[in-house]
Amino acid sequence: MLEKLNEEIIFFKETAIMEIANFGRKYTKDTGKHVYPAWFGEGDTPTSKLIYDKSINALNEGKTFYTYQNGTPKLRSEITKYMNEVFNINTKPENHSVVTGGMMGLRLICDLIVSNGDEVVMIGPVWPNIRSSVLLKKGNIKEISLKLKNGDWVIDFDLLLNSITAKTKMVFVNSPGNPTGWVMPKEQQKLLLNHTRHLGCWLISDEVYHQITFNDFVSPSFLELSKPNDRLIVINSASKSFNMTGWRIGWITHPEELGSHIAKLVQITTTGVPEFLQNGLVSALENYKTITLELRKNLKKSRNIMFDRLVTWNKVECSIPEAAFYAFFKVKGINDSLDFAKKLILETNVGVAPGIAFGASGEGHLRICFAAKDTFISEIMDRLEPALNK
Ligand SMILES: Cc1ncc(COP(=O)(O)O)c(C=O)c1O
Repeated sequence: MLEKLNEEIIFFKETAIMEIANFGRKYTKDTGKHVYPAWFGEGDTPTSKLIYDKSINALNEGKTFYTYQNGTPKLRSEITKYMNEVFNINTKPENHSVVTGGMMGLRLICDLIVSNGDEVVMIGPVWPNIRSSVLLKKGNIKEISLKLKNGDWVIDFDLLLNSITAKTKMVFVNSPGNPTGWVMPKEQQKLLLNHTRHLGCWLISDEVYHQITFNDFVSPSFLELSKPNDRLIVINSASKSFNMTGWRIGWITHPEELGSHIAKLVQITTTGVPEFLQNGLVSALENYKTITLELRKNLKKSRNIMFDRLVTWNKVECSIPEAAFYAFFKVKGINDSLDFAKKLILETNVGVAPGIAFGASGEGHLRICFAAKDTFISEIMDRLEPALNK
């Protein structure tokens, strides 16, 4: 049956994050044993009532029709207000398009920019869906890897700049980064933006974790440095900042000229984000200070509970992240992280993401999402300790 299907999809490999989650789910089905899930990148707190009440109201008001492809005027205006306030910038509603989550934002941008054989430079280890989005468009990925040095993730910045040449179509930066939590310093952002500006290639900045920081500031955005006609697109999402992963809603910030082309792509994919969901995001943005204050407080607590122990484990080498909500650490002596993660499920009933999911530079590492209640974190640490501290 499969012969008549698109081979590129049939032979496209599932990410190792999904592979481990499916392994864990099957284990639960076969044995009845619970697996503690720390493999995906999401918190365990449901969306605030402040947000979903607005969506319920919208449904009650009959907001159940097709809507604007780039987002409702109300939401685009609210996004503009939020972005301008948070980053002290001066964007207009025409610079923002609402998309079905950061993921759809990435896919649309790859549709817009990447063609067969195009060179895309990215910094690894990197969230697998980013790589997959480029590979689906048959782009060629050139990856520059972060290295863990004295407890910090660092990039060979000269190597990064030298890798971006006249042949490069697109540069992809994810800061704060999943899985490492690495944040590109403002000075490097400035030099990188100048370099891409000079070469005329596209710079795509995935800033979906910009609110998930532990120093009370949002992480620096390329938008703070850019000019209106820069080939810069920034991807954002309601998922991480507002506990809205299941809503599938985000936004991209782009030069005004791109809006109508993004609208065409939205039209032939999702045809737009349901209006009642957009109303929920309006409320999240109106209340962002209260929501993110609480979120950061809880995340900081969970991070500290996890890292107070993790840093003392003798098989572990790690960096304490200042942003995003992952522990991404090297496990001494392992060279097959997927196999090791499977063994952890069998031995400890804890599901973690294998480092290989984030590219070759992630091999030998594991990623645990710490966006969870302190009781969950303590439980999984108790369970993991015998395997990682011996
Ligand atoms: C770096 C990064 N970008 C984008 C996304 C997409 O988020 P969403 O599609 O939920 O908005 C994620 C989700 O894990 C992510 O980690």
